[in-house]
Amino acid sequence: MLTGAGVSAESGVPTFRDAQTGLWARFDPRELATPAAFAKNPRLVWDWYAWRRERVSRVEPNAGHRALVEIERRVPEFVLITQNVDGLHQRAGSRRIVELHGNITRVKCSREGTHVERWDASDGEVPQCPSCGALLRPDVVWFEEMLPPDALAAAENAASRCDLMLVAGTSAEVYPAAALPRFAEEAGAIVVEVNPDSTALSHRVDYALRAPSGVALPALVAASWTA
Ligand code: OAD
Repeated sequence: MLTGAGVSAESGVPTFRDAQTGLWARFDPRELATPAAFAKNPRLVWDWYAWRRERVSRVEPNAGHRALVEIERRVPEFVLITQNVDGLHQRAGSRRIVELHGNITRVKCSREGTHVERWDASDGEVPQCPSCGALLRPDVVWFEEMLPPDALAAAENAASRCDLMLVAGTSAEVYPAAALPRFAEEAGAIVVEVNPDSTALSHRVDYALRAPSGVALPALVAASWTA
């Protein structure tokens, strides 16, 4: 299973490339989601992620997230690979998750990379690492940064061994995540796209469910495991 921002759209979290509501419609990503942006203006980047963290804390997982929890419960080999950083899969109850792009609910030291559970940003400044004093930053992958090697390896391993890959809510434009369906295809798996619109991947999938994931994924569960 590979998910993208579209599976959180029905929870009210804007996708990246949807021009009408997309986050990027309001912000220039190059100003915010890069190491250079953080070095140049750490406070702006920190505040943008604090705003996103607060927004995400106010929404709920949707029926699509919950359907994936049900599939994980019924299919021991099921692995959820997500590009999303909103943490909604975890809040819905998914456990076997590979986070390719990190998670905005986590914060780490910008020098040591160690996770920091609690921080104090009440003075309006970017908080500092309690052990080395470097600035803290969101635990997400920024443009020009490498994905966490162990997460990418786990995702490629799962994609290469599956016999069915569902690809839901992604425009399949950002690599290396967008290469994962190719791993599944080359392993002989059936690839099913769940997306109201067609994408860069659509011409290579075996089936396309042209519906919102909040509708299509629960329907798949109901059809697969009628009570
Ligand atoms: P995008 O915004 O690129 O694509 C969202 C996809 O979800 C589009 O194909 C929409 O058609 C589809 N969609 C919208 N509503 C949907 C719904 N209700 N159900 C199913 N699909 C729906 O988001 P991603 O593909 O996730 O990277 O973007 C990939 C990466 O680009 C992100 O992880 C981020 C960004 O750069 C990082 O942050 C490193």
